[in-house]
Amino acid sequence: MTTATNPNNFLATGSAPGKIILFGEHAVVYDRPAIAAPVSHVRAHAWIYPDRVCRVEAVDIQYTVMVAEAPVYDPFARIVRLICSELGRSLPPWRIVVHSDIPIASGLGSGAAIATAIARALLQAFDAQLPLSVLSRCVYEVEKLHHGTPSGIDNTVVVYEQPVWFVRGQRPLTFSVGAPLHFIVADTGIASPTKVAVAKVRQAWQAETRRYETIFNQIGSITKRARQAIEAGARRTLGQLMRQNQALLAEIGVSSPELEALCRTAYQAGALGAKLSGGGLGGNIIALAEPDKVKPVADALAAQAKRVIHTELYPSNQSATT
Ligand code: PMV
Repeated sequence: MTTATNPNNFLATGSAPGKIILFGEHAVVYDRPAIAAPVSHVRAHAWIYPDRVCRVEAVDIQYTVMVAEAPVYDPFARIVRLICSELGRSLPPWRIVVHSDIPIASGLGSGAAIATAIARALLQAFDAQLPLSVLSRCVYEVEKLHHGTPSGIDNTVVVYEQPVWFVRGQRPLTFSVGAPLHFIVADTGIASPTKVAVAKVRQAWQAETRRYETIFNQIGSITKRARQAIEAGARRTLGQLMRQNQALLAEIGVSSPELEALCRTAYQAGALGAKLSGGGLGGNIIALAEPDKVKPVADALAAQAKRVIHTELYPSNQSATT
């Protein structure tokens, strides 16, 4: 953290994980199911210090906003106002410092994680609590500023910090994991705002509704089979389903040469499956590997990607990272 603030002098702190979408991105905007998991190893953090006015300082992007004067579309001010309003409190005289390890606009849910970290720090500083469902709803409001028409999957998985089965408008469900699943996340280094990919798909869906609805049905059916495969610990099947999901994502126009190249590299190094994760057009791929193939796949991807992260799903239903 590069701030002049004494890091030991804070009133409160909060953090939240990144996330990956395993199956069903884009189709989830059109009410099909999706599966997502937290990536606890990369996180957003917020610290609160006493001050004279309420302001948020995002140190990574060197951005400071005075909450009382901020426009309605400012995402940092928005989460502060929402939490204060949920708690019936006026804006506190606090300086909220934010730092995130999660790359921005790369499909790892950085916007949702930053808002959640701020919300958690505020709750701690106010010595207050809110149900996770309320917290998730507040973060969803901020997601709307980032994404336009978000499905709600990012705020859900980031706030609950659990793998989730998500259908828009329904209560998110967690589910069991039959065997450890090792994923390698590799970043193309190309920032791609989700809003752009979502708008591109919407335009194409409007022009060719039947075709896109058919593809979304196919993605929905892959996602259902993927849940069964995760529950059964059937890694090979899961890998094949990732490959099929990726082909359909390419068909709706959200893959890119760089994403395809990373998927190919993962397969050449022995991955069971690989696909883009999140909005696409840039951002990350995820690759699934048998335990003994994690290192070769990660090494091959590291030679080509901007950044590589491992994350695992374990049978206890918890996600962990290395
Ligand atoms: O790019 P991400 O990780 O924020 O994921 C977006 C997922 C989409 O399905 C493309 C959009 C959404 O709101 O669910």
